[in-house]
This record gives sequence, C-alpha cells and structure tokens, in this order.
Amino acid sequence: MKLTLNDEQKMMRKMVRDFAESEIAPFVEKMEEGIFPRTLLEKMGELGLMGIPVPEAYGGSEMDFMSYIIAIHEISKVSPALGVILSVHTSVGTNPILYFGTEEQKQKYVPKLASGEYLAAFCLTESSSGSDAGSMKSRAVKEGDFYKINGSKMFITNGGEAEIYIVFASTNPGAGSKGISAFIVEKNTPGLIIGKDEHKMGLYGSRTVQLTFENMMVPAENLLGSVGEGFKIALANLDSGRIGIAAQALGIAEGAFEHAVRYAKERVQFGKPIASQQGIGFKLAEMATAIEASRLLVYQAAFLRSEGLPCGKEASMAKLMASKTAVEVSSEAIQVFGGYGYTKEYPVERYFRDAKVTEIYEGTSEIQRIVISKHLYN
Ligand code: CAA
Repeated sequence: MKLTLNDEQKMMRKMVRDFAESEIAPFVEKMEEGIFPRTLLEKMGELGLMGIPVPEAYGGSEMDFMSYIIAIHEISKVSPALGVILSVHTSVGTNPILYFGTEEQKQKYVPKLASGEYLAAFCLTESSSGSDAGSMKSRAVKEGDFYKINGSKMFITNGGEAEIYIVFASTNPGAGSKGISAFIVEKNTPGLIIGKDEHKMGLYGSRTVQLTFENMMVPAENLLGSVGEGFKIALANLDSGRIGIAAQALGIAEGAFEHAVRYAKERVQFGKPIASQQGIGFKLAEMATAIEASRLLVYQAAFLRSEGLPCGKEASMAKLMASKTAVEVSSEAIQVFGGYGYTKEYPVERYFRDAKVTEIYEGTSEIQRIVISKHLYN
C-alpha cells in the first residue's frame, strides 16, 4: 500500500479543505439548529462531490474510491453531519444502482444522483430488525407490472430529503435473507409515507426519519438486481459504506483533536500553557497515536477498494477502530477543555455527541467483530 497521496488525491484534499473552511464551517451552527444543508449539497454537486467515484459516462467525477474517502474525511472534520449525508448518498444510495442496476436504471438515475439533483437514501433497518437485517418484515408482492410493498423502515438517513430510496423487502418470506429483493423507489411514489423525524443525540444537520409503505406500488422495472438478490446487494454495498463511516469517524476524531491542541497551547494554568504540562501532553500523544492508527486502517481499506480488491474484513476493522477512536478522542478533547468543554461555547461537545453513532450505524461495533471473526476462520 502506498502511504502517500497521488496528485489527484492531493487536489481533492485541498479542494474539500478550502470548501469546508469557506462554505461548510459558516453553516455548522445552522445545521446545529436542525437546518438541512440543501444549499451546501447544491454547491457540492457543482464541485463534483456528489458523484466522486461515479464514471463520467454517468455524469460523475470518475475519481478513485480513495479520493471519495478523502472527501468524507475532510468534510467530517468540520461537519460530521454533512459527512454522513454524503456517505449514505454515495456508498449505499448511488452505488447499488451503479453496480447492480440495468443500463436503463443507470441512465435514468445515476446522472441525477451524481450531479446532486437527486439525493439518495438506503432503507434496510426496521423497528424489529437492526443487526439481524435479514429478518425484515417488509413485504413485496408482484401484481402485474408492479410490486406492491407494505411495511416500515427506521433510522433512515436522508429520509424525507432524498428523491431516491433503495428499499429492501421480502418477496419470499419463507426463504429468509435469500428471499429479500431490492427496489429503486422514487419519492413521489404513492404509498411512500415519510414518518416522524428522530430526535437524535447528535448529527442534527442530518435528517433521520421513519418510513411507512402502505400499498406502495413500485414499477416492476424498478427491481434492482434479481429477485432474492437484495440481501447480497445490501451487504456488498455496506462493505464500502463502512469505509465511508470509518472516514467520517476519523474526521470527527481529528476535528476534536485539532481543537484540543489549539486550546492546550493557549490555555495557561500554573504559569504555563497546559500543552507543556505532562498530564495534557501525554493525553494529546495518546489521542494522536489512536488517530494515526485509525487513519492507516481507513486508508488501507480505501486503497484496497480503489484497487478493486476484497476489503470486507479491512472495512470492518477500519470502522471498528475509527469509531472507537472518535468516541474516545472526542471525550478526551472535552477533558482538555475542562469545564469549557462541557458547554456549547466550544465545539468539542458537538464532536462527542456526533461520534457515538459511528459505533452503531452501518453495522454496530459488535457486528463488525462478527464480520472480522468470520474472515479469520474462512
Ligand atoms: N457481500 C456480499 N454478500 C455477502 C456479504 C458481503 N459482504 N456478506 C455476506 N454475504 C452473503 C453471504 O455469502 C450469504 O449468501 P450465501 O448463503 O449465498 O453464501 C448471505 O449474504 C447471508 O450471509 P450471512 O449468512 O453471513 O448473513 P447473516 O444473516 O448471518 O448476517 C451480518 C450477517 C454480518 C450479521 C449482517 O446481517 C449484517 O451486516 N448486519 C448489520 C446490518 C447493518 O449493517 N445495518 C446497517 C443499516 S444501514 C445504515 O445504518 C445506513 C445509515 O443510515 C448510516
């Protein structure tokens, strides 16, 4: 694995850093008030950030997966909420169509997703099936040229804002996970009901809703992949999705860390900056080391994915490590700030609230350990 970025990747990092500083940072407070960053997403579309790894033939930027991960990492340093919006839109929203769609489906949807005209959401989780995603109850029944879908979904990132929903439902309940099929559902489909917004601990700028399907009629041509292939489509795209969430977690850790270092250099106690006192210096050293270890795992997984190599184990390792680092580093950043860190005057409490969910969504840390251990025995 190369440990240096190529010119294209460096260019992406600089472009996103500049955009984060000039456009995202001034909007963070608005997102904290719960305002969805539509205007930022439009600008990101203009910059080619909504379809970074998508081929030019489908309106994308055709850059490698590593460049995409760099973008999520850099965005999440400033706004983890925007980081997850982009990750879900690309990894588990656009990619399933790109990799499993028919040519007609790709032509119809991918250019609009890659330009940012459309936003995407991924609808797998239900109230009684989270980690055990294969036990979902949503049901799709073929009726003429349509599938009639009934059921509900929970914790849907980008729900209510997205124009395109990748929906998983069982076409053969007796077959368990092998009976699940995937569908491309447009927002205005009759029977698609956007339910209540979740009031989350963090990531206020990212919208998370419940969905209900009431006799939702989806054209049969919107079946994604083959009948019964849905679970594999979900898991295959979650492999790369998990690298995106790992990059988000890495960004959270680094963002909190940078604030902590800046503060430690300014804050004087006992006659000198706290950064030059060993208790804080050792803490910052531990934080920096955990971040560096996470970065190596995240970039290794992204490198493998860029090369088209298997990366399921590495993606899970990266997510497991980076999410733990995000939680621990953001907590320690508050400690460096002392009482100020516990207030909303400083941003470190926001990073701490945003960090926790990276250990939960796109597969909990316990699920990542299951995936890793399965790879160890195979
Ligand atoms: N790629 C492709 N296929 C895969 C795969 C992968 N990575 N992993 C497994 N499969 C296939 C298997 O080969 C198997 O098919 P065959 O029998 O034909 O070989 C089939 O899928 C079922 O595999 P398992 O028997 O291993 O499945 P399982 O039911 O035991 O579950 C699991 C495995 C790892 C626990 C899985 O259910 C899982 O990952 N659960 C977590 C769900 C999750 O991540 N949810 C996230 C929700 S999305 C989200 O959070 C987005 C957001 O808002 C941020």
